[in-house]
Amino acid sequence: MEFTQLIEKRRSIRKYTSEAISEDNIKKIVRAGLLAPSSRNLKSAEFIVIKDKEILKKLKGVKSAGSGFLDQAAFAVAVIGDSEKADAWIEDCSLALIYMQLAATELGIGSCWIQCRLRQSSIENVSSEQYAREVLGFADNYRLEAIMSFGMPDEEKEPCTKIDEDKIHII
Ligand SMILES: Cc1cc2nc3c(=O)[nH]c(=O)nc-3n(C[C@H](O)[C@H](O)[C@H](O)COP(=O)(O)O)c2cc1C
Repeated sequence: MEFTQLIEKRRSIRKYTSEAISEDNIKKIVRAGLLAPSSRNLKSAEFIVIKDKEILKKLKGVKSAGSGFLDQAAFAVAVIGDSEKADAWIEDCSLALIYMQLAATELGIGSCWIQCRLRQSSIENVSSEQYAREVLGFADNYRLEAIMSFGMPDEEKEPCTKIDEDKIHII
């Protein structure tokens, strides 16, 4: 698929069939995340690949809203950044996330970004990060940017072709 077509085809897919995704495709997606550029090439982003249905079910509560479909996903990847390694861990993780989403799009796999940084979990006074740390068990120096859910699409969306010309400022 041409790059222009790929970025138009990329949409947030939140409904998934029960079809499994092959190990080969999971590896291709995570590899894309690892190939993303990073600040000073420090590669601060790390990837927790979650295939266990029980864990996906628990993770559904990582946000008070906007994560309810996680238990339907074939797998998900929590992208955590080593904040002691790089001050630009947010950017590093974000790039890894979008690379994974584009790789999934090319493979015909649906995905959705679930924002966790600065968000609250379904439990009062528990942040999304605290909640995920409890479920996934990552160390304090790792900060959670987002979780990307993946699955075979059970919804169809039009390619994204509309662009807001007024957001372009040429001087
Ligand atoms: C930084 C960021 C955070 C997002 N957080 C969520 C989220 O928590 N839950 C969700 O369902 N979608 C989330 N999305 C998906 C957006 O809602 C989606 O990208 C937007 O509505 C445009 O739709 P599209 O991706 O189909 O083009 C997020 C997307 C981005 C880039």
